[in-house]
Amino acid sequence: MKTVEIWDLPTRLFKWSLVMLVALSWGTGGQSGTAFIVHVVSGYLIALLILFRIVWGFVGGEHARFAGFLRGPGAVLRHLGTLFGAKGEAHLGHTPAGGWMILLMLGWVAAIVVTGLLSRGEGYAGPLWPYLGGEGLAEVHETLVEILPFIVGVHVVGVLLGGAAAKQSLILAMVSGRKEATELPPGTADAKPAAPRTALIALSLMAALGAVAFLATDFAGLNAQASPEPLEDEGGERD
Ligand code: HEM
Repeated sequence: MKTVEIWDLPTRLFKWSLVMLVALSWGTGGQSGTAFIVHVVSGYLIALLILFRIVWGFVGGEHARFAGFLRGPGAVLRHLGTLFGAKGEAHLGHTPAGGWMILLMLGWVAAIVVTGLLSRGEGYAGPLWPYLGGEGLAEVHETLVEILPFIVGVHVVGVLLGGAAAKQSLILAMVSGRKEATELPPGTADAKPAAPRTALIALSLMAALGAVAFLATDFAGLNAQASPEPLEDEGGERD
C-alpha cells in the first residue's frame, strides 16, 4: 500500500516523549524523596522539549511548521462541521481545530513548567523562586495540573473523531510518520523536510541548553529538598 510521509522524526519523538514525561511528572508530583527529584528533572526535560518544538515550529518539516497548521476561524468552523457530517475531510497535517488545540496544549504545559520553576512549597523552592516567585504560584501550578486531563481528554477525543471523519488512523500516522495515499488528495507528495543544516543547528542548540541547565542545577541541594523540612517564612532561601 502506498503511503505518504507527513510527520518528520523530530516531531514524532517530541510528541511521544512529551506524553511520557507528562505522565512521569504527573505520577511523581506532590511527593518527596526520589520521586520529587524525578518530578523536577522531568519538568526540565519538558521545558526543553517545548522550547525545541517552538523552534521546530519555525524551521521544522513542512507539516510541523506553525504557519502551516494555524488557520483562521472560517477554516476551523468548516472543519468542526465535517467532524459530525457524513463527508469527512482528510488533512495532510494537523486539522484546523487540532492545530489550535496543539498550541493550547503547548502553552498549558509550558505554564505548568514555568509556575513550577517559580513556586515555593513545603520544603521546596523552585530555582526561579528567589528572582520572580510569588506566594500562590504553587496553587496556580496545581490548578493548571488538575485541569490538564480535561484538555488532554478533548485532544484525544478530537484525534479519534477527526481520524474517524477522515477515515485515517491519526495515531498510527503519529507513530510511523506516514498516512495512506488513498486517503489523501491524489498526487499528494511527501512533506518537505527541514533543511538538514537548520535541523542540526536547532537540535544542537537544544542539547547545549539542556547541558547548561543540568550543569547549573544543584542536584545535592535538590536532594536535600527532596526530604523536606519546612522552609523559613521569609525570603524562601534555604540556608
Ligand atoms: C499528556 C498527554 C498528551 C499531550 C501533552 C499531547 C500533546 C500533543 C501535541 C503537542 C501534539 C502536536 C504534535 C506536534 O505537532 O508537535 C499532539 C499530537 C497528537 N497527539 Fe497528543 N498528546 C497527549 C496525549 C495523546 C494521546 C493519549 C494520544 C493517543 C490517543 C495522542 C495522539 C495524538 C495524535 C494522533 C496527534 C497528531 C494529531 C494530528 O494528526 O493532527 N496524544 N499531541
